[in-house]
Amino acid sequence: MRHEPLLARLETLQAAVPGVVDGAATWLHGRVGVPRHPLAAGCWYNAPGGGATAASRSEAPLDPGARESGMGLLDGRTALIFGVANDRSLAWGIAQALAAQGATLAFTYAADALERRVRPLAAQVGASFVERCDVQRDDDLDAVFARFGEAYPQLDVLVHAVAFAERDELQGRYADTSRQGFQLALDVSVYSLVAMARRAAPLMRGPNPNVLTLTYDGAQRTYPNYNVMGVAKAALEASVRYLARDLGPDGIRVNAISAGPVRTLASSGIRGFHWILDYSAERAPLRRNVTQSDVGDAAVYLCSDLARNVTGHVLYVDAGYHVVGAELGAAEREGAGQ
Ligand SMILES: NC(=O)c1ccc[n+]([C@@H]2O[C@H](COP(=O)([O-])OP(=O)(O)OC[C@H]3O[C@@H](n4cnc5c(N)ncnc54)[C@H](O)[C@@H]3O)[C@@H](O)[C@H]2O)c1
Repeated sequence: MRHEPLLARLETLQAAVPGVVDGAATWLHGRVGVPRHPLAAGCWYNAPGGGATAASRSEAPLDPGARESGMGLLDGRTALIFGVANDRSLAWGIAQALAAQGATLAFTYAADALERRVRPLAAQVGASFVERCDVQRDDDLDAVFARFGEAYPQLDVLVHAVAFAERDELQGRYADTSRQGFQLALDVSVYSLVAMARRAAPLMRGPNPNVLTLTYDGAQRTYPNYNVMGVAKAALEASVRYLARDLGPDGIRVNAISAGPVRTLASSGIRGFHWILDYSAERAPLRRNVTQSDVGDAAVYLCSDLARNVTGHVLYVDAGYHVVGAELGAAEREGAGQ
C-alpha cells in the first residue's frame, strides 16, 4: 500500500516509454567479465585495509607490484548502488564498470515492481545483496544500511543515481512549478543524498571511501522543460560541496558526475528530451552524445584511489558540451569559414 504513489508514477513511465522499459537494448550485456580495463594494468592501487586516518588514506604508499599484476582498480572494495531501474540506467553502466574493476556490488530498487528487473541484472555481476528502498522513507533507508552493515565489513563506495519529478513539472514553465511538485523533486533527488551519506559514513572504514552522485548541466544553465529538476540538480551540486566538507575529516570523498543526455527511463519523462539529445550531439565539441559506459568509466576514476585527493568536485562527462556558449548554424558556419 505505501508504495502506491511511486508505483503509479513508474507505471505511467512504463506506459509512456515501453521501448525503454521493456524492449531495452541488451548491447551492454556481456561487458562484465571482459578483460580488466586497460588502466588497471598501470593503476596506482592501495591494498584494502581498515582503520586508516584521513591523512594516511590520502598518502597510503602505492604497491608497485600491483601495477604489473593487472589487478582491478577496485579489488576488495564494496559498493552500494541506488538507482538501477533497468539495463538503460546510468547506475547500471556504473555498476558494470565498477564490477569490471573488481568491486563487490550491492543494489537497491525503488519499488516492488522493479525487483524483477533489478535482480537479474544484479545476478549478472554476482551481487546477492538486493534490497527494496524508497528513498523518501527513513525506515527503508535505516533498514538497508543496517542490513548492509550486517552483510559486509565495510562500505567503500556509495552510488546515488536517483531522481524523480512529476511528468507535469517537466514541461512548460518553471514559474508554474507547484509546491508539492517542488518538494517531491527536491526530496527524492537531493535530500536522499544527504540521508544516505549520513547513514553510509559510519560504515566507511576502509581506504579512500567515497560517495558519488549524478547531476546534469541543467543545474548551471537553463534547458527547456528541465525546470524543477534543474533547481534540484543545483541543490544536489551544492550538497556535494557541503557533504565533502563535512565528511572530509573522516577521509570520505563526495563527488558528482555531470553526465550529458542519455536516453533512460528518467530522461524520457522530460518533454522534448529527444530534441536535447540531438542538440547536444550537434553542438558538443566532440560532436557526439555520451553513453552509459562513458559515465561508468568516469565513475571508476572517481571511486578509485586514482581520485584519492578529489572531493567536492563535479566532473563533466558530456563530450565537452558545457564549454560551448554559442554555436553557429550550418549557413553561418559556411559564411564564417568554419
Ligand atoms: N539520463 C540522463 O540524460 C541523465 C543526465 C545527467 C544526469 N542524470 C541523472 O542520473 C541519475 C539516474 O537517472 P537515469 O537517467 O539513469 O534514469 P533511471 O530512471 O534509470 O534512474 C533513476 C532512478 O531513480 C530511482 N528512483 C526514483 N524515485 C525513487 C525513490 N523514491 N526511491 C528510490 N529510488 C527512486 C528509479 O527507480 C531509478 O532507478 C539521475 O539522478 C538523473 O537525474 C541522467
